[in-house]
Amino acid sequence: MKKTFYITTPIYYPSGKLHIGNSYTTVLCDTVNRYKGLRGYDTRYLTGMDEHGQKVETVASELGKTPMEHVDDIARDTQNMWRTLDIKYDDFIRTTEKRHKTVVKKIFEQLLEQDDIYLGDYEGYYCMPCESFFTETQLEENHTCPDCGRETELVKEESYFLRLSKYENRLLKFIEDNPGFITPEKRKNEVVAFIKQGLFDLSVSRTSFDWGVKVVSNPAHVVYVWVDALSNYISSLGYGSSDESLFEKYWNGDEVVHVVGKDILRFHAIYWPIMLMALNIPINFKLYAHGWYMMKDGKMSKSTGQVVYPEPLIEKYGLDPLRYFLLKELPYAGDGVFTPEDFIARINFDLANDFGNLLNRTINMINKYFDSKISKPRKSYFEFDKQLTDLVSKTIEVYKEDMDKLNVSSAIQNVWTLISRTNKYIDETKPWVLAKDEDAKKELNSILYNLVESLRHIGILLSPILINSSKELFKQLNIPLELQTWDSLKWGKLGAVEVTDKPTPIFPRLDKKIEEEYILDLLKNNVVEETPENLIEIGDFLKIELVVGVIKECVVHPDADKLLVSQIDTKDKVRQIVSGISKFYTPEELVGKKVIVVKNLKPVKLRGVMSEGMVLAGKNKKELEVLEVSKLKAGDIIS
Ligand code: MSP
Repeated sequence: MKKTFYITTPIYYPSGKLHIGNSYTTVLCDTVNRYKGLRGYDTRYLTGMDEHGQKVETVASELGKTPMEHVDDIARDTQNMWRTLDIKYDDFIRTTEKRHKTVVKKIFEQLLEQDDIYLGDYEGYYCMPCESFFTETQLEENHTCPDCGRETELVKEESYFLRLSKYENRLLKFIEDNPGFITPEKRKNEVVAFIKQGLFDLSVSRTSFDWGVKVVSNPAHVVYVWVDALSNYISSLGYGSSDESLFEKYWNGDEVVHVVGKDILRFHAIYWPIMLMALNIPINFKLYAHGWYMMKDGKMSKSTGQVVYPEPLIEKYGLDPLRYFLLKELPYAGDGVFTPEDFIARINFDLANDFGNLLNRTINMINKYFDSKISKPRKSYFEFDKQLTDLVSKTIEVYKEDMDKLNVSSAIQNVWTLISRTNKYIDETKPWVLAKDEDAKKELNSILYNLVESLRHIGILLSPILINSSKELFKQLNIPLELQTWDSLKWGKLGAVEVTDKPTPIFPRLDKKIEEEYILDLLKNNVVEETPENLIEIGDFLKIELVVGVIKECVVHPDADKLLVSQIDTKDKVRQIVSGISKFYTPEELVGKKVIVVKNLKPVKLRGVMSEGMVLAGKNKKELEVLEVSKLKAGDIIS
């Protein structure tokens, strides 16, 4: 029976187009999955989308779509993109699918019944304009919102909590007993240090939005992101359904690997194993956390245009160069940087010069000296032969170790050491000199055979990485299918060969200057001055009812001296409005002012005092000024 291998990417938020940063994980998993397939494993590869949450609800409504329409669009685009990257996944799970939601509901209710989930109060600082909750430590000075700088409000909301604290010691012991559970080591140490600080129970439900899986026993709550998202790794295998065969086979099989970025390590290394412990499901997975792709000036960011998308690079340079770059340039335990210079250099030096040229030279020499046919030599003629064959065996071993650790970057470097050694072999044996000597035909044949045999090994090792060019290598060298397998990685398995008489370079050399400029231009096009997400329809604006209000009275808030409480006449009534402007105005200065009021804002209590609207003000870094009118009267409409 074949051993099983199950690999997963994180499921992506539908927050827009995925860039090369988040594509990296998917390419990495695809590569490792293909490698395991090559090794004879029965593999399963899962990716998908994390489609619930308040943000989806908000973005969809901004785009004039229902949340479902919005996530359908993004899921379709994402799947198209994976097709372009030739990602061979077996399943694409979406958290909005019934098969997933049923499992989440079941898990939640079971944990609730067992008292691993309990009802409590969530306390956080709420910024109304941003619709976001923050913890106290995330806030700016004076409890203002870290995103928009406005005053936040301390709110309490009923919420369910997962008892993390109860499992703290069991989890620490598990990590200690399973040294390979989290890799690289430095990431494991971060997790252990975090747990040792003490775990707080995790808020796992919300009542403030609707777009999510409803808690069966209390539908006022929706399950909050992580319990929903993490369950995808087993819901997609049919866990808890009438057919658990995939779950049995792959989860309870031989190897399970979750690949995640460093930013979401904690969720996978702490919440997920604790959920599994509580559910009495074996923690059979290993976790690999990779670093991030950065730009020269820092993080990839859509708003500054510091972002690279895969499609235009693939369209212009082909798929393999991008896969190669992504897999090679992100070191095992660190971050990587994308620059146009490096991207073009990798294509020109590594792919065209070192690898492509080796293949091309070899085929050209076979055509020139032997009319495209060579035979298997009876013996070795050169001292260099053994050095080459020894390196081939060693490369297979280190490659295997690296790939099993998901250190694809190092595996690539080792294959390139072999490529360089093979190029050097040509310089050492000088076939062009032997070609002049009629008596040296056998020696010359043996050199070319050794080159093809080395290239065949290189082709097999690169087949999970350079998926198109390895096929092209086999095609141009006419390597039979049975000699393209992992089991055929043994020097001398190759017999006589007849190579193509029409070789084409697999990676053409590029003009450095022209191509770097081309990519820089691509990046410039990515600068979004106004994304569709921040444009609104006129209808959206007209929803806001703005009227003139006259401030009749004003006092300092009894419990918050940063807030002023005004009584404002808007003709329909005198409304009470709380504003965070006491740093700029005394109550006396405000009384009598004719200001602009947002009339139809939902009433809200700010530090215990009801506020029915908002006063408009403009501000810069130093000043804030309440907007005033001169001729208009209370109740006049602003539009
Ligand atoms: N939905 C959650 C994951 C839930 S898994 C149960 C999520 N989604 S995400 O879309 O924000 O991120 C998905 C992955 O992309 C994460 O692993 C994240 O680390 C990765 N990356 C995002 N930007 C990246 C780079 N610039 N470079 C490398 N990986 C990056 O988090």
